[in-house]
Amino acid sequence: MQTTIVGDVMDTRTDIDYLFEPRGVAVIGASQNSAKIGYQVVENIVQRGYKGRIYPINPKGGEVLGLKIYPDLSAVEGDVDIAVITIPARFVFDAVKECAAKHVKHVLIITSGFSEVGNAEEERKIVAYAREHGMRVLGPNIFGIYSAAASLDATFGPGGILPGRVAIITQSGALGIAMIGKTAAESLGLSALVSIGNKSDIDESDVLEYLTRDEATKVILMYIEGVKHGSRLVGMLKEVARKKHVIVIKSGRSRRGAMAAASHTGSLAGADEIFDSIMRQCGVLRAENVQDAFNWAHFLADAPLPKGKESVIVTNGGGIGVLATDACEKYGVDLYDNQAVLKDTFAPVMPSFGSSKNPVDLTGQATAEDYKRSLEAMLANDDMHAAIALYCETALFDTDSFADLLRVEYQHYKEKKPIIFSLFGGEKLEAIVRKLRAEGIPVFSDVYDGISSLGALYRSWRNLNAPAEVAEDVQIDVAAAEAILDRAREEKRGFLLANEAQQMAKVLGLSMPRSILASNLDEAVRAARTIGYPVVMKVVSKDIIHKSDAGGVALDLVSEKEVIDAYQAIMRSCRAYKADALIQGVEVVEMVKPGVETIIGARQDASFGPIVMFGLGGIYVEVMKDVAFRAAPISRREAHAMVSDIRSYPLLLGVRGEKRKDIDGIVDVAIKLGAVVDKCRDITDIEINPLVVYEHGQGVKAVDVRILFQTTREVR
Ligand code: COA
Repeated sequence: MQTTIVGDVMDTRTDIDYLFEPRGVAVIGASQNSAKIGYQVVENIVQRGYKGRIYPINPKGGEVLGLKIYPDLSAVEGDVDIAVITIPARFVFDAVKECAAKHVKHVLIITSGFSEVGNAEEERKIVAYAREHGMRVLGPNIFGIYSAAASLDATFGPGGILPGRVAIITQSGALGIAMIGKTAAESLGLSALVSIGNKSDIDESDVLEYLTRDEATKVILMYIEGVKHGSRLVGMLKEVARKKHVIVIKSGRSRRGAMAAASHTGSLAGADEIFDSIMRQCGVLRAENVQDAFNWAHFLADAPLPKGKESVIVTNGGGIGVLATDACEKYGVDLYDNQAVLKDTFAPVMPSFGSSKNPVDLTGQATAEDYKRSLEAMLANDDMHAAIALYCETALFDTDSFADLLRVEYQHYKEKKPIIFSLFGGEKLEAIVRKLRAEGIPVFSDVYDGISSLGALYRSWRNLNAPAEVAEDVQIDVAAAEAILDRAREEKRGFLLANEAQQMAKVLGLSMPRSILASNLDEAVRAARTIGYPVVMKVVSKDIIHKSDAGGVALDLVSEKEVIDAYQAIMRSCRAYKADALIQGVEVVEMVKPGVETIIGARQDASFGPIVMFGLGGIYVEVMKDVAFRAAPISRREAHAMVSDIRSYPLLLGVRGEKRKDIDGIVDVAIKLGAVVDKCRDITDIEINPLVVYEHGQGVKAVDVRILFQTTREVR
């Protein structure tokens, strides 16, 4: 934050504000040659009508577009808040030094040829210098910035950006430039457009910090390729998405970027699944493709928030009404279902052969007047919260005046209730769709596109109304946890043995089956007697991690004889598996009662930092990869949402007369695991597999706990 006096006015803008509302802009590398980027940037700034001072810089001097060209920054007399750099990479560092001398606040480096092509060192040098001198760097490898607040188009894009309510943040340059053209073609107005390129310094979170306060911005659309500082981004998105609609498009759905898998939690965590889950946690809408993102952004920018969740479909075609019903189910749009009220509302205003059920089917014989009266009747009913108006071309409507009818209806709805129109028919109707869309009216050719947009509004709306999530305050004895890890570190181990995992489970307050460590056969027999049959026996050896593969596990031992036989069999097969393995003994464990087997874990993710994961065990996890994630630490509600995110959640609610399972027990464990990986960052991976879940009120049992950690302690 900075406080200076500009004229008589107290200037209380934070640093990032100067990026969007600069008082003076320099273009270093401004050229008189219209084919150069250094010319195009100046041209866009001039044409857009930037309100501040423009300073083209080029040692050759002269004039460009009627502006004096300064030989260097030191010759500029006024304040320069941002400097756009459009000179080759090898000259950029010196230009940044000049910027520092001029007290520039932000350098925007359009130039390519840095970390994106392996020249990371030069990029680091520039950023380090800039930060040391109180400057921030946007880029390098960007196409610039547009800010409606300053009427500034400092990009080398095609121009023609319309001012509006949607802000775009893009990591991809080419796609971003193409988006400029698309916004113009679709009459989508922008409040800002920021190219973040290599994100060497300023990243999405910095830009969001400004946009969350910017009153003109109603919708934020982000195109992301990779996340660098995930924890900060999560915090920022959670805050922004409670105030504005946030849409994200992320490329790279492949698993290649996933962290090397050390466990299930790792291998199941395809980078994309984690991203998807965490965006949901933040209340961000994830679009599959650019077209969906644009449709949603366009609609959300103008749509009023609904007052409730029930929508009504009005149609003149039965088939398209059914399609719309399917689409509503797909996109989570609820339909109003009070049949008596539907009849009272629509029967008086529709043809007698129509159907007042929702979809309200006016039939193909409906006239424009029937259509209009039905929409008005829906608008007048406060319990009907959003309208889906469908139209299939018929001879009974005068298609020419139909556009006017929709304009009028849209004006009636505009401030009161969300409405989408979907028109299906020939070329004339398509022309109407294009025309009305250009006017900002939410008209779609495909009913699915329209309802997908309404679904996006509903998902975002639920989040806008939600209270801020506060992570559960879990008391964890970090010192005790670290002490367990330290003892293992003394043996240069990065994982815990079963008995140590037991101790850790105790520190975390996890309920585990009773277990006794036995170092010989006699002790094993005594241990089984103490615990009570049936028992399980597992080898304990720091040289054998995969106990089952080594034949080191025996289940369901019901008598002393079985314990003796199993002990001997385990010793034999483990020696055969690894002759030089140092075997400390066996762990005799209470055999747990059967329940629903789940898997729950937490780890340090390369992008998002600490994360928690949950899924159903067995085939659900192996084959279906039915798992959900959250960025940790998590609140109770977030933990519940993670559990209910999995597709097989109904199994936990109880199917075919079964009782509901102890979901609260799972939630407790999820919260604890999230807290421990947040507080002990050197625990890289903790996994409970299975976590057996019993009926509601009967709790959960952590049958096997695996913990991996860094062999050197993290200094925090
Ligand atoms: N200060 C001011 N001007 C300088 C300068 C300096 N230190 N050094 C050079 N210049 C001038 C040049 O004389 C030239 O002006 P001129 O046309 O009057 O001769 C102008 O700056 C540009 O330099 P030039 O050497 O002609 O470079 P260029 O225009 O061919 O290329 C870039 C410069 C930045 C466009 C190019 O290096 C680049 O990175 N292109 C890729 C950009 C990109 O795609 N970014 C990502 C988009 S998503």
